[in-house]
Amino acid sequence: MGNIKEIPLQKLKVKDFIKEQVAEISNTVGDGLAINALSGGVDSSVVTLLGFNALGKRLKTYFIDSGLMRHREPQYVLSIFRKLGVPVEIVDAKDRFFKALKGLVDPEQKREAITHVFYKEIFGGLVKKSGARYLLQGTNYTDVEETVAGIKRQHNILAQLGIDTKEVYGYHVIEPLIRLRKSGIRKVGQGLGLPAEIYKRPPFPGPALAARVIGEVTPQRVEVVRKATKIVEEELYTTGAFQYLAILHEDRVTGIRKSKRDFGLQIEVRCWESTDAKVGVPTKLPYDKLLKLGDRITAEVPGVVSVTYNITRKPPSTIEAI
Ligand code: XMP
Repeated sequence: MGNIKEIPLQKLKVKDFIKEQVAEISNTVGDGLAINALSGGVDSSVVTLLGFNALGKRLKTYFIDSGLMRHREPQYVLSIFRKLGVPVEIVDAKDRFFKALKGLVDPEQKREAITHVFYKEIFGGLVKKSGARYLLQGTNYTDVEETVAGIKRQHNILAQLGIDTKEVYGYHVIEPLIRLRKSGIRKVGQGLGLPAEIYKRPPFPGPALAARVIGEVTPQRVEVVRKATKIVEEELYTTGAFQYLAILHEDRVTGIRKSKRDFGLQIEVRCWESTDAKVGVPTKLPYDKLLKLGDRITAEVPGVVSVTYNITRKPPSTIEAI
C-alpha cells in the first residue's frame, strides 16, 4: 500500500478533514483549473463538493454518459447538483465506450478498456479543451487495497500500479479520499451538506453496469441489466442493505413462454450486508420478496426466463460479477 495510511472511522474528524482537504486542493491547483467526473456515487459526489469548495468555478465537473449508467441517472445527478449550485456538464461518450468494449469478454480486459477510454480519450480530451492540469477523483482506500492485492483492477487506480498520469495522460491526479473507507466518506458527505439520498447511496462501481454483464458488453445487453437493476433497486431499497444488484449471465437456459420452449437469459440478484465492502454476507431476504423479484424480472425484462439469488459470502465471492 506504499505510504498510504488509512484513517479509520473512529479517528476521522470530519470538520478538520474537510478543512485540510479543501486547503490541500487549493494549494495544489494554485490559480489553475481542475476537472473531475461526477457519477452520482458517494465518492465522486463528495470529491465534487470538496473541489467546488476549494476552487469554485475553476473546477469543471463533467458527468460522463458512458451508456453504462442506470436508468435516468444523468438527469437525476444533474438535478441534485443543480440544487447545490454546482454546474455539471454532460459528455456523451456512449459510442466510445461501446466501441472499446466490442468483442471483449475477459473481466480484466473489459476493465482496462474502460480505464483507457476514461483516462486517455475522455479526460485527456477534456484537459486539453479546458486547459486544466489536474484531475480530482474519489479513489478510496478499499479500491487501492483490492487492486494492490491483485483481486480486481479498480478502474480508478493508477499511481499505485506505477502509472505516472502526467506522463501517460498529460495531467496530475488529486485523490482527497484515498485514506478513507466508504463509512468515512459518507460522514464527510454529510458534513459537506450533501443530501442524505446521496451520502447514504449504496455504492456503485466506476465501470458501472459493465461490472454486471458477464461476457460481451453491448448496448442491448446493458439495457437488459439496466431494466433488471431498476426492479432490484425498487424492490430492495427498503432493506437498508449495503448494496443490491442484478447481473446478466452469459449462459442461456431453457424456459417456457406461451407454452413453447424459450432458450432465454438468466439474471442473478445479489444483496449484501457489509460495512466497507471488504467482506460481505448475502442478506436474509424474505422468501416472498425473492419470489416477487423473480416474477417481476421475468415479466418486465424481455428475454429473461430465470432469476437466481446469490448465497455466497465475500470472500470467496466478490460483490460485483466481473
Ligand atoms: P468487489 O466487486 O471488488 O467490490 O467486491 C467492492 C466494492 O467496490 C465497488 N467496485 C468498484 N468501484 N471502481 C469502483 O469505483 C471499480 O472498478 C469497482 N469494482 C467494484 C463495488 O461496487 C463494491 O462496493
